[in-house]
Amino acid sequence: MTDKELIARHAANQVQNGMLVGLGTGSTANCFIAELARRCREENLQITTVSSSNASAIAARNLGLSVMDFEQVSHLDMYVDGADEVSPDLTLLKGQGADLVREKLLATASEQFLVLIEHSKLVERIGEKFAIPIEVMPFAWRLVKKQLEETSGGQGDLRQTPDKKNYAISSYGSLILDMRFDKQIDTKTLNDILNHTPGIVEHGIFYGLTTAVLVGKNGKIQELRTTNA
Ligand code: A5P
Repeated sequence: MTDKELIARHAANQVQNGMLVGLGTGSTANCFIAELARRCREENLQITTVSSSNASAIAARNLGLSVMDFEQVSHLDMYVDGADEVSPDLTLLKGQGADLVREKLLATASEQFLVLIEHSKLVERIGEKFAIPIEVMPFAWRLVKKQLEETSGGQGDLRQTPDKKNYAISSYGSLILDMRFDKQIDTKTLNDILNHTPGIVEHGIFYGLTTAVLVGKNGKIQELRTTNA
């Protein structure tokens, strides 16, 4: 069993009968979806799910899970997803997969938010390895970019499709600015700036939302929680 499968199984074992469970997006979330489906089959676990992306909804339905419409959800019991970076205070960087809006809605609405990562995703500072993905209203991208350059020393550009022939579009229909910021700006301040810049639909910093992080390394699981979680 890989580390991803191990942490996915551990998270799936925390799901209880009757729960509404949010499904994340990405390779680790896919392992969780598979483990959840296995429990439903083998243990007759009765749950409903809601998905953060079309890809996860299709994967879940293909495995026989019940997936409800996103707009029907006002609260959920548990949301399980991967992340691209996790800092010591359990702030996350997410959004390389361009499904940020639904991911953050589910993380915010959920009673518990479990994050599954391999050890290599742990960083000292958010933005250490990846640029910060910022979803912008298509007509606002130049204004947002200039604003972030001037106020926060942001540097970056619109994300392109893998073949570099077009600009990438998020599942919400936004353009995505991938920007790096001055190391002197702490994550909380940057989160506040991005939350309050007009034209930004959503961004990849998940601050103060995580309940626990399950870290997989060499066949072992480490569980990280904030002291006040
Ligand atoms: C999706 O938009 C992302 O936030 C993913 O959760 C993140 O990229 C982790 O993906 P992997 O589990 O594939 O590493």
